[in-house]
Amino acid sequence: MIVAIDGPSGTGKSSTSKAVAARLGLSYLDTGAQYRAMTWWMLANGVDVQDPAAVADASGKPVVTSGTDPLHPQISVDGTDVSGPIRSQEVTAAVSAVSAVPEVRARMVDFQRRTAAAAPAGIVVEGRDIGTTVLPAATVKIFLTASAEVRAARRSGELNGAVSVAATREALIRRDAADSGRTTSPLAKADDAVEVDTSELTLDEVVDRIVALVEQRRAAV
Ligand code: DC
Repeated sequence: MIVAIDGPSGTGKSSTSKAVAARLGLSYLDTGAQYRAMTWWMLANGVDVQDPAAVADASGKPVVTSGTDPLHPQISVDGTDVSGPIRSQEVTAAVSAVSAVPEVRARMVDFQRRTAAAAPAGIVVEGRDIGTTVLPAATVKIFLTASAEVRAARRSGELNGAVSVAATREALIRRDAADSGRTTSPLAKADDAVEVDTSELTLDEVVDRIVALVEQRRAAV
């Protein structure tokens, strides 16, 4: 059972994916955290993240590992837990540039496929290109959306209002444009993905809807 959950930031992807995995007894993989971990390492080691050749050259150096327990998601670089630092504004501002580099994606995608294949009962994988590129044969594909206003309000709330909703909205729109416009596996809805607009739904409502879809699919096979 492979559940792919894609969509832009602020749609509730992480909270939804963890809750769906926990409810269904599946493993969980946050692929955005992997790109963030790679970006954190590049910044910490003085790599010019705006130089794709420098990023490509350095991309083989850090060893990024992810835990797959939805109740205790964890991400490490070279054995150090970086779950906190990868959420910094510096990493958020640089991650689209790093994740657009094909060499970075090739390494991450390989790891993501191996992790999914090794999950004992199945896995929920969240990202931008899971249903289209990483795991195109996923059993269930979900594409989460929400209005820019709702997404910005959610993200600003997560930062405890430290950044205004207007500034968050601008940053989100910029990151969406970069993630959707890149050449190598851009953010995109797979043709066979079910789109769920979360603007007017609670987290529980979104989770219930996805769990019901997975159970329907399980019953059909
Ligand atoms: O989901 P997130 O905001 O933590 O993701 C951070 C960035 O990583 C996002 O701006 C684009 C990139 N990303 C990607 O390119 N492919 C994925 N499968 C997941 C994330």
